[in-house]
Amino acid sequence: MDVIKTVREMRVYADKQRAEGRTLALVPTMGYLHEGHLSLVQRAKTEADHVIVSIFVNPTQFGPNEDFAAYPRDFETDCRLLEEIGGVDAVFAPEASALYPEGAGAQRVWVICPELSEHLCGKYRPEHFKGVLTVVLKLFAVCKPHISVFGLKDVQQYMLLRQLVRGLLLDVRIIGEPTARESNGLAYSSRNEYLTADERSQASVLWKAVTAAAGMIEDGEDRPDTVVEEMRTIIAQAPLANLQYAEVVTGDTLQPVTKLVPGIEVIVAVAVYFRCVRLIDNAFALVPSG
Ligand code: PAF
Repeated sequence: MDVIKTVREMRVYADKQRAEGRTLALVPTMGYLHEGHLSLVQRAKTEADHVIVSIFVNPTQFGPNEDFAAYPRDFETDCRLLEEIGGVDAVFAPEASALYPEGAGAQRVWVICPELSEHLCGKYRPEHFKGVLTVVLKLFAVCKPHISVFGLKDVQQYMLLRQLVRGLLLDVRIIGEPTARESNGLAYSSRNEYLTADERSQASVLWKAVTAAAGMIEDGEDRPDTVVEEMRTIIAQAPLANLQYAEVVTGDTLQPVTKLVPGIEVIVAVAVYFRCVRLIDNAFALVPSG
């Protein structure tokens, strides 16, 4: 497994693979890898000849009061895990100065997509997706993948990245991989590390809430408010949980749904704090027709 640190080296490497006729898959990550990331890598291996994993904690997607400085980092363990699962050809691990040569604070060109960023996490993390879209475009420009794999836990990010590719005519296929979960249903996340044992066990309410909500919709409940109320009730069963949002949005535009119209696909989503640790989860549901 090659470890590549500079933009120039990464470009040369990607050009060489492409010239030799290989398809390239990129799995962008912020490191501190867990089963969720490894499932993205496994998927990438089935979709392309050559797999690149990027590890970069992107400063521009963290708000001023968020956990950029404290975000967990362990590059050696990440590389060991990738070696162990095998099939990863290269790790791209640039310094911040490589992706933001003038400094992250001096970035002057941004990718934004206001409509899809309006609700869910975008409402509470106003600059977050601007940072994500911008860094992923940079990673695409440098790593030159044919395919890129993202987790569906971050469903709004996934939808925005599909829009990035469509809207800017990028020649990259975005793949969404279903959320990998711990045995109690909690979605894998690097931030789970911050939870105490009690919090970790109570955090299964996120999964319970979105699963119950999706089930209600598929069983014919047609009032979004009732579905949201059910998610709130389930989250409230965890005394350490503080709900940030519970929403039902359309599966394509991510706008809040006022009526569950037969045949449409919707997403039920929650964000919950355990102290300062923010966790998210979601599920898709198809509103039954008739
Ligand atoms: O999902 C993540 O880990 C990050 O948002 C990403 C896509 C690697 C961009 O920094």
